[in-house]
Amino acid sequence: MRSTIDLLRRRVTAAVARACDVDETDVNSMVNRSQDPKFGDYQSNCAMGLAKKLGVKPRDLATRIIAELDVADVCETAEIAGPGFINLRLSSDFVTEQLAAIPAAPADRADRLGIAKIDHPIVVAVDMSSPNLAKEMHVGHLRSTVIGDCVARILEFEGHEVHRINHVGDWGTQFGMLLAYLRRTQPHVLDAPEELRLDDLEEFYVAAKSLYDSDADFAETSRMTVVELQSQEPTVMAVWRAFCYESLRHCHEVYDHLGVRLEDRGESFYRDMLGDVVRQIDEKGLAVESDGAICIFLDGFKTRDGDPLPIIIRKSDGGYNYDTTDLAAIYHRIEKLHARRLIYVVGITQKQHFDMLFAASRKIGWTGDDVELKHLGFGSMLAKDGRPFKTRTGGTVKLKDMLTEAKTRARKVVERNDDEDGRRADLDDATIDRIAEAVSVGAIKYFDLSHNLTSDYKFDWDTMLSLEGNTAPYMMYAYARVRSIGRKAGIDFADLPADTPITVEHDPEMNLARTLLRFAETVDQVAADLRPNILTDYLFELSKAFSTFYDRRHGVRVIDAEPDSLRLSRLRLCDLTARTLKIGLGLLGIQTVEQM
Ligand code: ARG
Repeated sequence: MRSTIDLLRRRVTAAVARACDVDETDVNSMVNRSQDPKFGDYQSNCAMGLAKKLGVKPRDLATRIIAELDVADVCETAEIAGPGFINLRLSSDFVTEQLAAIPAAPADRADRLGIAKIDHPIVVAVDMSSPNLAKEMHVGHLRSTVIGDCVARILEFEGHEVHRINHVGDWGTQFGMLLAYLRRTQPHVLDAPEELRLDDLEEFYVAAKSLYDSDADFAETSRMTVVELQSQEPTVMAVWRAFCYESLRHCHEVYDHLGVRLEDRGESFYRDMLGDVVRQIDEKGLAVESDGAICIFLDGFKTRDGDPLPIIIRKSDGGYNYDTTDLAAIYHRIEKLHARRLIYVVGITQKQHFDMLFAASRKIGWTGDDVELKHLGFGSMLAKDGRPFKTRTGGTVKLKDMLTEAKTRARKVVERNDDEDGRRADLDDATIDRIAEAVSVGAIKYFDLSHNLTSDYKFDWDTMLSLEGNTAPYMMYAYARVRSIGRKAGIDFADLPADTPITVEHDPEMNLARTLLRFAETVDQVAADLRPNILTDYLFELSKAFSTFYDRRHGVRVIDAEPDSLRLSRLRLCDLTARTLKIGLGLLGIQTVEQM
């Protein structure tokens, strides 16, 4: 059993199978969380659809299902509501037993609150971040990196084997110009490629482009360099390698700062597979020549004028393009990595590209029903005024600079208890610095992940760094606060006996306990729907439930609760809250700190 919802789905499935005399494998229990706690914790809508099929009244069928339903050990009530909903309310005994059964945090490996890995793990390929190497990483790359990392962490937590693929743009015609410029300005790169340093990729690109536009000889050299690159001429390849290495070094500075791990596997990785892709498509009889180019035509894709819109897989000059490379990547991920779920964390503006790619892959026969292809498209990050995010002078904002600014701002938040000389008396400078670092990265990630994926959102320092509301600083502060309760109570949470019974008598306790129990199914839901804001919403709810629980007026006594068994029970709820917040924030890629 991995979660309460799993358990109830199983029980309802069994009951339906008995009530309708059908096989369990044909039953969809349709158990979900109730929209409104008034109706209990969970609800099943299965009676409605089934009744229609069987030609009986939904309420009658629901009555039969309930008669067969064996949930006495889980639920306080199972009731019929409205036209035939089955409402299930967990009993407090069940809730407390489940929580009491959670093992202590292991000392030697990551805590998972006793949540088992899934039974049938698969290989998942998450295509994420993937900047073009000719440019410095800018804020436009933030979302893919942060969302992709969160999705990867969640799928890894579930037990899947995840490839976090950085499909960087490191191949293509623009490299002719860049490499030619590199050779001209830094002729020594060939002698010592590893010593190449480009402090500012953006400046380098602009300089190369301006020479390209103004100098016909250079433009010609650039075009020749493209040809040499495509034929993998050794000296050009050496320059190319040096350039990619140096560009990736820039990227990894940002990834390290963000705490994101990635496998670099750029477009160039597929360069020798492209011919085979075209050949395979041709063999299937799907390659169509059009104006000298080779195309695949797919049903349902039209240009604005209503003409069929193909994917061009080989240009008329014989070159391949972004689409061909992406087709090769699909083939590689399915056939070589054995991935069964391919997730592309790429802006929503590339929706049509992926729709067409996926349709093509199905048509070619690479992707059967056992493979899921998913474009996880996201909206743009806008400036506070709703306009595109730019520097004051209209340039793109480098991620590096944004992270630096975040840290300066986060320091102010952490130093909020200013004493005379502007320092917090209780923390030394190195600690403040470390906390500010975690808060700055956490704030940016949390703010991004807490928004609905497909919507645009407005970047706003004040909101994301606020200690109030659904923000990283608030959540991190909530965590540190719970941890400090242990210190105040004079105990180490790790020493609380794992079998300390949990008792819940008051509403705030009950509410906290129920919320804690929902963690496992929340993670499952994010793993299925790939919507990180479900997790941020849950964590926010949890920290609110904790606040009420610990509130001096509305909550219960904890540190000085009596008798001792009650004190220990409540301290265990604190410990479970802290552990859930830590794991939950960890799945968002956010580090917790013990003090804030
Ligand atoms: N490099 C591309 C860009 O900057 C994004 C690549 C996304 N991944 C992919 N497999 N197409 O737009």
